Amino acid sequence: MPTQEDAPAVHAAMPAVPAPALAVVESEVRRLCTRYAARLQFHGWHHVSFVRAKAAQFAASNGAERSVVETAALVHDVNYLVRRNSSAAIGRRLRMSVLSRARVRPSVARWIEDIVIEAEMATRGPDISREAQALSDADTLFKALPVTPVVLAHRYLEENGVTLRELANKIVGEQQDPHDEGFYFYNPEAAATYSRWATANLALWQCIKESLDDTDVEELLDLVSENTAAAS
Ligand SMILES: [Fe+2]
Repeated sequence: MPTQEDAPAVHAAMPAVPAPALAVVESEVRRLCTRYAARLQFHGWHHVSFVRAKAAQFAASNGAERSVVETAALVHDVNYLVRRNSSAAIGRRLRMSVLSRARVRPSVARWIEDIVIEAEMATRGPDISREAQALSDADTLFKALPVTPVVLAHRYLEENGVTLRELANKIVGEQQDPHDEGFYFYNPEAAATYSRWATANLALWQCIKESLDDTDVEELLDLVSENTAAAS
């Protein structure tokens, strides 16, 4: 596997994932996202294409191997096609299959798998590779966007079959420590630009958690569910 140190030398000469292979991965992931759009209400093509675009920008900024970062971004969430509410590792076989069909070299495919696992929100630490940092910053930014709780949170609940309380616990549980310990974003520019959004987002989810302990709010949400059921 190319190391963080030799990756720039590798991509200076030739991208680890040649453009035709990257195009095949893009086309295959998009096809899967479109075919199974009903199961990917949150992690569909809208998410994948946003993360890919932002990850490419972060890779250009931090010297990561861009073609590998973009490919990792394209395949990072295929686990949601394999199993609802699962970890990235569950997508390994499908990920490797997509990469193999695109003729991505096996050593590069393993590198991409490592990056995806390294960048996972629930387990990532302060010291990860530049490629994982670029992917992580893009994926984390999607979570911190002010529009995400408004437009997409309910889709996450439906996609993954979790309650609002479970989602609030997951977000605060996974994101508060990286936020407080200074590695929510790895890229200094991303941190400077987006930390305000991240802080507001975490405060919102902390407030949501607190509100769910109010029995009148609980009753309100029960009535919303009844109303939704009656209307459908
Ligand atoms: Fe993601």
